[in-house]
Amino acid sequence: MTGWDLAIDFGTSFTTAATLTRGRAEVLEIDGSKYVPSLVCLDDDGTILTGRDAVNEAAMAPDRTERVPKRALVASEQVLLGARTVTTVDLVAAVLARVAGEAVRRFSGQRPSRVVLTHPARWQAGGTELRRLTEAAERAGLGEPDLVAEPVAAAHHYVRTGSGDQAVPDGGMIGVYDFGGGTFDTAVLRRRRDGFELAGSPGGDVALGGEDLDAAFMEILAEHAEALDADTWNTLWEAEGRVAERHRTLLRRDITQAKEALSRLPAVNLWVAGYDDEIRVTRREYEKAVEPLLARSVAELADTVARAGATPDALVDVYLTGSTSRTPRISALLADLLGHVPGMRDDPKAVVVLGALSTIPGSVSATQHVRLPPRARDQGRRPPAGPTPPLTPVGFAVPAPPAGATETVRRSRSGDVTVRAGRHHKPADEEPADEPGERTSADRASADREAADREAATGIAREIAAIADAAGVSDLVGALSPTVRAGDTAEALRRPLVVALEGVGTAIGTRHTPFPGLPPEIALQVLREGRAELGVLGQVLTRLDAVSERLAAWRARSPAT
Ligand SMILES: Nc1ncnc2c1ncn2[C@@H]1O[C@H](COP(=O)(O)OP(=O)(O)OP(=O)(O)O)[C@@H](O)[C@H]1O
Ligand SMILES: [Mg+2]
Repeated sequence: MTGWDLAIDFGTSFTTAATLTRGRAEVLEIDGSKYVPSLVCLDDDGTILTGRDAVNEAAMAPDRTERVPKRALVASEQVLLGARTVTTVDLVAAVLARVAGEAVRRFSGQRPSRVVLTHPARWQAGGTELRRLTEAAERAGLGEPDLVAEPVAAAHHYVRTGSGDQAVPDGGMIGVYDFGGGTFDTAVLRRRRDGFELAGSPGGDVALGGEDLDAAFMEILAEHAEALDADTWNTLWEAEGRVAERHRTLLRRDITQAKEALSRLPAVNLWVAGYDDEIRVTRREYEKAVEPLLARSVAELADTVARAGATPDALVDVYLTGSTSRTPRISALLADLLGHVPGMRDDPKAVVVLGALSTIPGSVSATQHVRLPPRARDQGRRPPAGPTPPLTPVGFAVPAPPAGATETVRRSRSGDVTVRAGRHHKPADEEPADEPGERTSADRASADREAADREAATGIAREIAAIADAAGVSDLVGALSPTVRAGDTAEALRRPLVVALEGVGTAIGTRHTPFPGLPPEIALQVLREGRAELGVLGQVLTRLDAVSERLAAWRARSPAT
């Protein structure tokens, strides 16, 4: 059997692993996800749980949980979990052993020929952190791994997979801006014939990560919640017992997800235990709250560039890594510093582990003179990209509308409403007969509310379809045909619409991207910010935001359904 290589990026929040065999690199899925939570939890019998098992157990047993083993590894030799003392090396070893075990299983028990681990650029050879990481790898049965700094790995990936006519010439410099879950790292790298080397000392902030953005989001939520009912908010945080603990755990998870959603949506609604109404947080207020943190991170990159003896405009490019870098405001701030939108391709988290694999001798070499994508500022706005595979939002069918068909809206007497592009949902003779009977005023009020919700859903569905049409992306999303049924709750009506709206936004970002290679959500944000110059497309983007607002407001109005 052919040999294979394994790379692991052990992150503060998430760990990713990738394998390379026969020149083909692949990010590993574990528990159904490419991001394995790095959190660990000690079981009652002393077993260190990892991945989804750890997440589940952690909700019940926060005292036996180490949420950030990477930070623990830096800070101390051992931690107290419940009543037991555990070495931080063992905690990290458990995570490494878990992902390595999954990889080995996929290769029928065959051991990897080579193992590469990534690490923050600030962890220096001979230092305590790298010594502990190496020890953890050995305890996980991985032998002595190769070690690659995270920004160096990311740079290898970007260069290896780049295309275009602008190479990083020997001696040329690139910046890496890595905003992960628990730490923020910056580095400037100089191109050498055989790869990259650090130019100047790397920078960053060990106390700045996506978690701090979660905390800023929480502050906003707390302000709204206290304004509505301060006692309920205080009770939520002061109550004792497992139910209260679980509510808090779920709220923290929801906050992280809502923060991430604000990278795509102008507003989000959160359900908070004890409140009847959902609480709404807008991207505008979130961006205002995190602006000082983001500005600090950009200033840190500027300092790192200065330490390397360069200026921002002398860099060939700056690459974004770490999932927090998906925050659109970060791209905008960096564009102000650099004069062009910084490079982000692929999944900004996975680029580290994929790049680590490409540093292995014998793999696709990153040491040759590899070309980078063209610089965004040299290109100006581009016409729509060429053919792209269809993006079909989940929950939406893609019926091929018959030629000349028109959208049909039908209401049956029982209240069903169907919106179909080019299809009649039900022939009139199939419509159920009305069943008149005694109806109380409560029944009538409920029926009226349901009818209003269906009406709202129908209107929004039609507007989404019209936006897709006006943006010229209907072929990417397919015909939008949500079926709205009597008895659907407002949430059941709303969810597919949210998904559809996201799908249309993604399609617009894909088709109208100003710079090839930008992830669609960043492209969409760049387009949004320049909408004043975009004519019809700019108006379409305003309609897109308006629908998003309508969806959020509609849900906030209908919490009881
Ligand atoms: N779309 C998104 N927009 C904004 N933030 C996001 C998005 N997706 C994920 N995040 C945040 O990114 C963080 C995790 O990033 P990542 O997985 O790159 O970190 P890590 O590698 O575990 O940490 P580190 O590199 O600091 O050790 C989390 O805080 C998560 O909420
Ligand atoms: Mg990381």
